[in-house]
Amino acid sequence: MKPSQAQSQALRFSFKAACAAAAIIGSAAFSTAHAADAGNGKVLSESHNCAACHGPGLNKPVSGEYPKLAGQHATYIYWALRQYQMGNGNPNFGRNNAIMAAQVQNLSQSDLKDIAAYIESLDGSLVLKK
Ligand code: HEC
Repeated sequence: MKPSQAQSQALRFSFKAACAAAAIIGSAAFSTAHAADAGNGKVLSESHNCAACHGPGLNKPVSGEYPKLAGQHATYIYWALRQYQMGNGNPNFGRNNAIMAAQVQNLSQSDLKDIAAYIESLDGSLVLKK
């Protein structure tokens, strides 16, 4: 093997090692910082027929009483959904809307976070311009 070949092989090996390390660090960072699973949120939104009221892409409500959701911040959506859960049967705490309370009663905390992440990921026509 010529010295230049050995050198490029060594270089290739260290590049691969660096990629592997980056992949490990990357996936660890991903699993902690992005615990919510938007893919699962999409599945849940579809199985719970959220679009029946909030419209296609959760961006075109079928009536003016229903809010547009697409693109809204996940933190806000999660908290809104959590309030509908807590408000059920407790008019002094949380949001007390019978329609939405019924939608979220059988969803877990992580389901709500997944749905919130999915909603944030959608393109919405409501925009905040600064
Ligand atoms: C039967 C119609 C209907 C269905 C189905 C429905 N919603 Fe709603 N949603 C509403 C109505 C009505 C409101 C407004 C309630 C209020 O005044 O607090 C609302 C409000 C919300 C809000 C609060 C938005 C904000 O800006 O404060 C969120 C979030 C939401 N819905 C998410 C969902 C999700 C997720 C699903 C599916 C799991 C769903 N909705 C299914 C009717 C519906």
